[in-house]
Amino acid sequence: MALEVYGSSDLIERDIEAYLEQHENKSLLRFITCGSVDDGKSTLIGRLLYDSKMIFEDQLAKLTADSKTVGTQGGALDFALLVDGLAAEREQGITIDVAYRFFATDKRKFIVADTPGHEQYTRNMVTGASTADLAVILIDARKGVLTQTRRHSYLAHLLGIRHLVLAINKMDLVGYDRAVFDRIVLEYRSFATEIGVTRFKAIPISGLGGDNIGSRSENTPWYEGPSLVEHLETVEVDAAARQAGPLRMPVQWVNRPDLDFRGFAGLVSAGSVKPGDAVRVVPSGKTSSVARIVTAGGDLDEAVAGQSVTLTLADEIDCSRGDVIVSADSPLEVADQFEATVVWMSDVKMLPGRPYWLKLGTTTVSATITEPKYEVNVNTLEKLAAKTLDLNAIGVVNIALGKPIPFAPYAESRELGGFILIDRMTNATVGAGLIHFALRRSQNIHWQTADVTREAHAAQKAQQAKLLWFTGLSGAGKSTIANLVEKKLFALGKHTFLLDGDNVRHGLNKDLGFTEADRVENIRRVGEVAKLMTDAGLVVLTAFISPFRAERQMVRAMLPEGDFIEVFVDTPLAEAEKRDVKGLYKKARAGQLSNFTGIDSPYEAPENAEIRIDTTQMTPEAAADAIVERLLAQID
Ligand code: ADX
Repeated sequence: MALEVYGSSDLIERDIEAYLEQHENKSLLRFITCGSVDDGKSTLIGRLLYDSKMIFEDQLAKLTADSKTVGTQGGALDFALLVDGLAAEREQGITIDVAYRFFATDKRKFIVADTPGHEQYTRNMVTGASTADLAVILIDARKGVLTQTRRHSYLAHLLGIRHLVLAINKMDLVGYDRAVFDRIVLEYRSFATEIGVTRFKAIPISGLGGDNIGSRSENTPWYEGPSLVEHLETVEVDAAARQAGPLRMPVQWVNRPDLDFRGFAGLVSAGSVKPGDAVRVVPSGKTSSVARIVTAGGDLDEAVAGQSVTLTLADEIDCSRGDVIVSADSPLEVADQFEATVVWMSDVKMLPGRPYWLKLGTTTVSATITEPKYEVNVNTLEKLAAKTLDLNAIGVVNIALGKPIPFAPYAESRELGGFILIDRMTNATVGAGLIHFALRRSQNIHWQTADVTREAHAAQKAQQAKLLWFTGLSGAGKSTIANLVEKKLFALGKHTFLLDGDNVRHGLNKDLGFTEADRVENIRRVGEVAKLMTDAGLVVLTAFISPFRAERQMVRAMLPEGDFIEVFVDTPLAEAEKRDVKGLYKKARAGQLSNFTGIDSPYEAPENAEIRIDTTQMTPEAAADAIVERLLAQID
C-alpha cells in the first residue's frame, strides 16, 4: 500500500536516487520509529544517522553550533536537533509529519520513517508503517509500557509489520539495571501476546550515550543480544520474503508503441517470472505464457519482486490497466464486496453510503462503506459501537465496489490487500484500509435481467423514462413547482410519479433524521427507488433538499446518460427564510431545531444543473411551464 506522503525529506528526489544507487547492491530495510519526543526518538534517529556518518558536513556544522547555544545535553551534541527540522515541532515540542531519512552501513541501506507518537497523528503513523519492514517501538526505561506503546504496537501489527523491536531507551537513567529491563520485557510480552504478536526483539539502549546502538555497550554486560544496528542489518526484509511467493504483477499500463509490440508494464509485487512461464490475467482468467521480459536496459532472463518490467505474452489476450498478471496455477480472488479495517484520515467524518473512490494497486473503482460493525479504541483495543468514523478512528466495515476487482487479503499481500479511499469531490485521501476477506454474498446475488426491458416499459407508455431531480433549500419551492410540473405532464397523458421529501420521510425513510449521515442515506434510498421507477418507464419527479453534491452525482451516475435532469430551485436563503412556510427557519434560529439546512447544516449548490429556476424572477406557474417545455422536447 503506497500511501500519500505527507512529510518532507531532507533530500530532494534526485539526491535520494543518486544516494541509493551508490549503495545499489545492498539490501534495503524500511523501518519506522514509534514513540514521542519524550522517549528520545529524535535523539535515537540522530544517533543512527551520526554513527553511520551519513550526516552531511553542513548539517554537522550546524548541529555543533546549535548544541552550543540551545542544546540541553550539557555540551554533548544534541541529536534531537538534527532531526527536529520542522519549525512547528521545535515550537510545540511535537513532531507533526512523517519525515523519511536515509542512511547506510557497510551491510545494508535504510529508509527510516519518523512518525509522531501522539494519538491525533495516527494517520501519519499508518502512512509510515504501510511500507515498513520493521518497527522500533521506543520505551522510556523510567516509565515502562505506556498506553501509547500499546497503540503503536497494535498499529504496527495491524499494518503487517513482521519485525518489532522494543528499544528500551534511557538505560543510563536507570543505572543500566537489568531488573528494570527484564520487568518491562515481561510486561510487554503479555500485552504483545494479546494482540497476536509472537516475536519481538528487546534491546536496552541509550540514545544519548550511544549504548547498544552502533555496537554493544560495556555498560550492559548482562545483555547478550545484538546492538540495534546489528539487528537492523540482519533481519529478513519483506522484499526477500515476497520473492518466494507466486507471481503477482498489477498492470500499470499497456505499452503499445506500434502494431507489432504489445507489452504490459508494472511492478512485480510478489514472486518471480521467466520467459516461458504460464500466466493468467485476472479478473478475466485468460491464460498465456510469457514471451519476453523487456526493460530499458535490455531483455531479462528473470524478474523478481521489486522490479519494474514490461512483459509480452505469447497470445493476444485482453489485459489492461488494473488487471493483475499472476502465475497460471495460483489465481487471485475476484470480488466486489469485502470486510475491511479502515483508518479514517480526514477531518470530514466517514459517511456510510456516500460514494468514494477506492484505489487498490493500479485499480480505481467506486466504493461505498457501510456503518462500522465496530470501532477499535486504539488505546484499550476495546470494540465500540459506532455510526461513523472520525479523524484517526479505526473501524471494521463492509465495502461494496462498483465492479469486481482482483485482490488478496492484506495479511497475505500489502500490495493487493491495502487500499486508500479518496473523496470524489476534493480528490483528497480520506482513509486507508486493509482487506480481511471477500463477502460471499456478492457472488450469490445476481442481477435478475427481466425480459420486459426498461425500454419496453417506456415504449408501451409512448414516452421516455426520465428523472427530474429538484434540489434546493427548505422552502425554496421544490415541492410546489414539482407538483405543478407533474399535474401538467399528467394532463398531457404522461405517466409520472412524484417522490417528495416530507412524504417519503413518513414511510420508507421514517427511521432517518437530518444528520449528514442520515441525509446521505435518505438520498441513496430515494435514488434507488427513483431508478426502479424509471426502469418501469415512468417520468419520475423528486423533491428533496439533497444538499450534497456527492449524492446527487451518485444518483446521476446510476442512470443512463441524459436521463437525470437536475433542477436547481434557486432561492436565496434570506428569501426562503422570509417566506418560512412551515415556520421551521424561525425554530432553527431560536435553537429549537438543529442541523437545519442553510442555518447549521450546509447546502452545496449545483454547479452544472440542467435547469436553474430563479424563484425571485418567476412564478411557480411560469417555472413549471418552462420545465415542461424543456422536458417534452426530450421525451416525445
Ligand atoms: S434532505 O436533506 O435529506 O434531502 P428532505 O428533503 O428529505 O431533506 O427533507 C427536508 C424537509 O424536512 C424540509 O422541507 C423540512 O420540512 C423538514 N425538516 C425537518 N427538519 C429539518 C432540518 N433539520 N433540515 C432540513 N429540513 C428539515
